[in-house]
Amino acid sequence: MRTSIIEVKNLNVSFGNFKAVDDISFSVKQGEIFGFLGANGAGKTTTIRTICGILNPASGQIYVYGKDISKNTSLIKNNIGYMSQKFTLYKDLSVKENIELAGTLYNMDKKRIKEETQTLFNLINFNESENTIVNNLPIGVKQMVALCAAVLHNPDLIFLDEPTAGVAPQIRAKFWQLIKIFAQKGKTIFITTHYMDEAEYADRIVLMQTGKIIAIGTPKELKEQFFKTNFYKITPKYGNLVLLKEKIQLSNFADNINYYGNSIKLILNNDKKWQQFLKEEKNSIAYQIVSPSLEDVFLKAVSGK
Ligand SMILES: Nc1ncnc2c1ncn2[C@@H]1O[C@H](COP(=O)(O)OP(=O)(O)OP(=O)(O)O)[C@@H](O)[C@H]1O
Ligand SMILES: [Mg+2]
Repeated sequence: MRTSIIEVKNLNVSFGNFKAVDDISFSVKQGEIFGFLGANGAGKTTTIRTICGILNPASGQIYVYGKDISKNTSLIKNNIGYMSQKFTLYKDLSVKENIELAGTLYNMDKKRIKEETQTLFNLINFNESENTIVNNLPIGVKQMVALCAAVLHNPDLIFLDEPTAGVAPQIRAKFWQLIKIFAQKGKTIFITTHYMDEAEYADRIVLMQTGKIIAIGTPKELKEQFFKTNFYKITPKYGNLVLLKEKIQLSNFADNINYYGNSIKLILNNDKKWQQFLKEEKNSIAYQIVSPSLEDVFLKAVSGK
């Protein structure tokens, strides 16, 4: 068993009368990539900020590295990396100036800042000039530099709040390779994202809705928990997708019938009627069996059906 690096018990966080985080409990193990997912306003950032000691909880306990954060705030703050959702880098300063500033905040001397920067910049393949003003970097590179600034002091626990928001898909994939490298080095990553495809890379996932945890588990566990069977993807060989959907609905052999690119995705609920449909439509459709995605899980969990 790996030890828990974060332990959250019955956490409540309020803004005035509004409960942003509503009685959540979970733990994160060392070396884990832990994904926090949920729609806008679900409470992801509030949870992170509370664990990092920036916000005070209304009630509940938080232990980081086995220590109660309410009594060890500064110790914990110095031993975590936090890349926040909104404010990351000073946009009018150069890459070098931003990195140096981050290092100074962690009381690092010039030599150590240089060494750590070198290691991290090699890792992200940074090949721009360090004198580039941050505002002139493409968003993907900017976010990678922000990640470097957040982990310059080499913390074991790293919080990344939507690091890939607005980043192009190829760069997002690169970002995740980097996150995997950190995890392989034994670091723990607590990450939030809106991109369901990315959540597949996480070891475990929490789904949050209006302050509550509605599901928790590995991607595989969540798929098995929410879907007992696979999906069928039906594609018209010719003809109209809208008409095909109507026909499927009328034939009454499936649930969860939705458009999926140029196909219709569904779950069979009546094999006999499906066989009949296939017989009638075999020349006009093709079909494929596909596993549920985390997007499917999320939609089902949120709808509560
Ligand atoms: N400082 C604040 N004062 C009042 N309400 C707040 C404050 N910060 C957050 N909230 C509210 O708390 C709820 C949770 O916000 P939070 O930022 O944690 O959500 P989130 O899951 O991170 O959303 P997003 O995906 O948009 O980043 C929202 O309804 C938000 O409006
Ligand atoms: Mg947020």
